[in-house]
Amino acid sequence: MDIVVSGIRSTGNLHLGNYFGALRNFVKMQETNTCFFFIADYHSLTTHPHPDDLHGNVKKALVDFLASGLNPEKATLYIQSDLPEVAELYLLLNMNAYLGELERCTSFKEKIRTQPENINAGLLTYPTLMAADIILHRAHKVPVGKDQEQHLEMTRTFANRFNRIYGVDYFPEPVAFNFGEDLIKIPGLDGSMKMSKSEGDMNAIYLADSPEVIRKKVMRAVTDTGPTAPGQPRSQGVENLFSLMKIMSTPETLSYFEEAYQQCTIRYGDMKKQLAEDVIRFTAPFTARINQLQADAPYLSRVVKQGADKARESAAKTIHEVREIIGFKKF
Ligand code: TYM
Repeated sequence: MDIVVSGIRSTGNLHLGNYFGALRNFVKMQETNTCFFFIADYHSLTTHPHPDDLHGNVKKALVDFLASGLNPEKATLYIQSDLPEVAELYLLLNMNAYLGELERCTSFKEKIRTQPENINAGLLTYPTLMAADIILHRAHKVPVGKDQEQHLEMTRTFANRFNRIYGVDYFPEPVAFNFGEDLIKIPGLDGSMKMSKSEGDMNAIYLADSPEVIRKKVMRAVTDTGPTAPGQPRSQGVENLFSLMKIMSTPETLSYFEEAYQQCTIRYGDMKKQLAEDVIRFTAPFTARINQLQADAPYLSRVVKQGADKARESAAKTIHEVREIIGFKKF
C-alpha cells in the first residue's frame, strides 16, 4: 500500500484552489492508501501571524478538512506542530541543503519580490521543512497543486542525497500526484494566474464563504470591455472566468458562454451571475458542514489527539532509524 503525505498551510479558511488542487484528492486517496494529512502551522510562521490568530487559523483549516470529507478513521489527520519529530528531521536535512539550491527556489525568489522586509531563514529553508514533512513518513505520493511541483523536486533531491551520503536505500522518492493527470492551477478572480490567500480576499473564493460574499466577489472579478471581433484572444481576467466555469458549471453552460464570446454577444454580467450561482450550489453543502463542525469543540479535539498519536508513532520510528543511520549512538 502506498504511503501518501500532504499538507496545507494554516492561513485560515481554505479556498477553491486548495480544494481542487489538493483536498479533493486527499478525500479520494484516503480510501486505498495509508494517508497522513496535516495542517502546516510551522510553515505559516514564515509570514509572522499574530499569536491571537494562530490557533483560530489552524481550527479553520481543520474544520475545512473535515467538511470536505476527510475521515479521521481512514486517514491520519494532524497538526504539524504536534510532531516535534518534524523539527528534528528538518534540522538534520538542513545540514545537507545548500544555500545556492535554496536561493534558486522560485517560491523563495517570489517572496524576495513580494515581502522584501521579511526574508527570514524560515523562508529560505521552507523546502527542507516541507521535505521533512514528506519523508518523515517515508511517503511515495504527495497530492498537491502545480505550484508545489518544484518543492517536490527538491524533496526528491534531499531524500536521494541522504541515501547517497549514508549509503542506504532508506527514503523512497516521493512524487507529486494527481491521478496521472497534469497538476492543477486554479486562477484568481482578480486576473492573476493563481487563486491565493496572499493575493488578498477578493482574489479567492473560500469553501466557507456565504452566498452573498460569493456573489460579491464573482461580480467584481476582473474582465475587459468585451470582444470586438470573432476569434479575438481572451484577456487573462476573462480566461480565468472561463477556467472557473469549466470546473464549476455544466458543459452546456460553458459552451453557451464560449459561443457567445465567439459571436461577440457575451455579457460578462450574465456570465458572472451564472458562475456565482454555480459556485454557491457547489459550496452550500460544505458551508453547512463547516458551521456544524465549528461548534463541536470536543469532536475537533478528539480528532487532533487521535491524529497526533498515530502520526507520532510513524514519525518516531523514522527518527529512530535516521539517528541510527547518521551514527548517533547511546552511551
Ligand atoms: P498551500 O497551503 O499554499 O496550499 C495547499 C495545497 O493547495 C494547493 N493550491 C492550489 N492548487 C491549485 N490552484 C491553486 N490556486 C492553489 N492554491 C493552493 C497547493 O498546491 C497545495 O497542494 N507548502 C505547502 C504546504 C505544505 C505541504 C507539505 C504540502 C507544507 N508541507 C508537505 C505537501 C507536502 C503550501 O504552502 O501549500
